[in-house]
Amino acid sequence: MELMDEIKRIAVITSGGDAPGMNAAIRSVVRSGINNGLEVFGFMRGYDGLINNDFKKLESHDVSHIIQTGGTILKTARSKEFRTKEGRKKAYANLKASKIEGLIVIGGDGSFAGATLLSKEHNFPVIGIPGTIDNDLYGTDYTIGYDTALNTVVQAVDKIRDTSSSHNRIFFVEVMGREAGFIALRSGIATGAEAILLPEVSGQLEKLKNLVSQRGNQKKSSLIIVAEGEREGNIFDIVKGLHADFPKLDMRVSILGHIQRGGSPSAYDRVTASRLGVAAVDALLNDQRSIMVGIRNNDIVHVPLKKTVKLNKSINRDLLEIVDVLV
Ligand code: F6P
Repeated sequence: MELMDEIKRIAVITSGGDAPGMNAAIRSVVRSGINNGLEVFGFMRGYDGLINNDFKKLESHDVSHIIQTGGTILKTARSKEFRTKEGRKKAYANLKASKIEGLIVIGGDGSFAGATLLSKEHNFPVIGIPGTIDNDLYGTDYTIGYDTALNTVVQAVDKIRDTSSSHNRIFFVEVMGREAGFIALRSGIATGAEAILLPEVSGQLEKLKNLVSQRGNQKKSSLIIVAEGEREGNIFDIVKGLHADFPKLDMRVSILGHIQRGGSPSAYDRVTASRLGVAAVDALLNDQRSIMVGIRNNDIVHVPLKKTVKLNKSINRDLLEIVDVLV
């Protein structure tokens, strides 16, 4: 008998940093599963819930009115225990005991690293749905939460711009993204930032110094976006260094932090999450065992989970060129 005839019970978790649109993805998995005659179970707090066997059956009404909400109704965690073989063994034993035959993991690359191992060590079908504000997953153009986070950054930076212009200050705004500059690059373009410092491009600090020195010590406002993963130092060191060279300039630091992770998901994130949830259930029903469902050129794609973990996504060079032209 083929696996697609066998699957009757599937589980879903959210793992790693929460991202707006995770709830829309859960809703999509649950409703698409039920529409395909499956029973769907939600485990709480990511892999920790799998290890501690903390789960509930999800019915269609359990996911009503969540498409518009941020966070995740299943809660999330970065599980230390799941990083161990023993932890993954416990998780598998619990899935097996409940006769669950496939798992859908909504999360980022850390979560997919665990998913790859679970699938490999126990020959268990696991499908990943990319969910992280960082957009740093190989194989997909977008991850759930990225669009909303970008819009949050843009709104915040527009407000900071008002103060920057009113006081003729140079504002340095730090945005999230872990070791990647996807949020920094797009938000920098969208806010008309005078410079964008991101980890994928070196020598920008030198460029920034030139820009500032061209203005001399004259008072003029500017907005500089700094990715949290910037390699030339953290935002405070960068500003301290510049201040030493240009003591008369009025500089301020603003760190946006976790406001970037919350809030109601954008229409784009809701639709993407809905598409990916359906695609993940379809993938399980079509006997896929260790893949991520992603979006490339607006089409759904399947990417081996291990590739998403091993390979790095490149920053969009066309966008970088735009920055140089527009600044
Ligand atoms: O991966 C999402 C993210 O928000 C990163 O941008 C950031 O570096 C990290 O998580 C922060 O993690 P935590 O919420 O655990 O402090």
